[in-house]
Amino acid sequence: MTSASCFFLIVAFCASFSFIQCQNYNKFKDKHIVEDQAQINCNITIKDRQINKDSCRFRNTFIHDTNGRKIRELCSPYVRSTLVPSDSALALTDCKLLKSRSSSPSSGCSYNQTEVKGVVYVTCENQLPVHFERFELSFAVHCTPCLWTLSLFILFRYLF
Ligand SMILES: *[C@@H]1O[C@H](CO)[C@@H](O)[C@H](O)[C@H]1NC(C)=O
Ligand SMILES: *[C@@H]1O[C@H](CO)[C@@H](O)[C@H](O)[C@H]1NC(C)=O
Repeated sequence: MTSASCFFLIVAFCASFSFIQCQNYNKFKDKHIVEDQAQINCNITIKDRQINKDSCRFRNTFIHDTNGRKIRELCSPYVRSTLVPSDSALALTDCKLLKSRSSSPSSGCSYNQTEVKGVVYVTCENQLPVHFERFELSFAVHCTPCLWTLSLFILFRYLF
């Protein structure tokens, strides 16, 4: 193989690789990113974005982050890393499937939704978010350490 064809092979490989990366990010964006202040309806947004395939998705969380700006910034230092937490609580709309036997993507999937604030954990690949892992309510994030301290304090008071 000439060095020129080798060069083009590498370029093609890199191009397809970054194409796959963009695809993954676009999928992530479709599934999890909505505008900052948007009032969304899970039933409609999940249907419009074709998030359900053969069966109704059990749960889906949307992050209110216009153009995914905050989440992309969060991933910017990482080549590959799982469970990257956001450094602050973000506005989220959490959609949970309402249990009903008839529900299917063709008949329409029905969701119960809650607006919460939480720290999100995402997988980053090549500076882009590609997977939403989970979120923790900001109450839990902020209060777990102080609850631990408080219970240790009470325990010590009790023992000594
Ligand atoms: C989604 O649809 C179900 C069933 O029609 C309804 O009970 C529920 O309130 C809807 N959710 C929203 C957010 O409108
Ligand atoms: C929807 O979620 C809220 C909050 O978690 C809950 O209180 C309510 O009972 C749920 N509604 C239905 C129909 O499941």
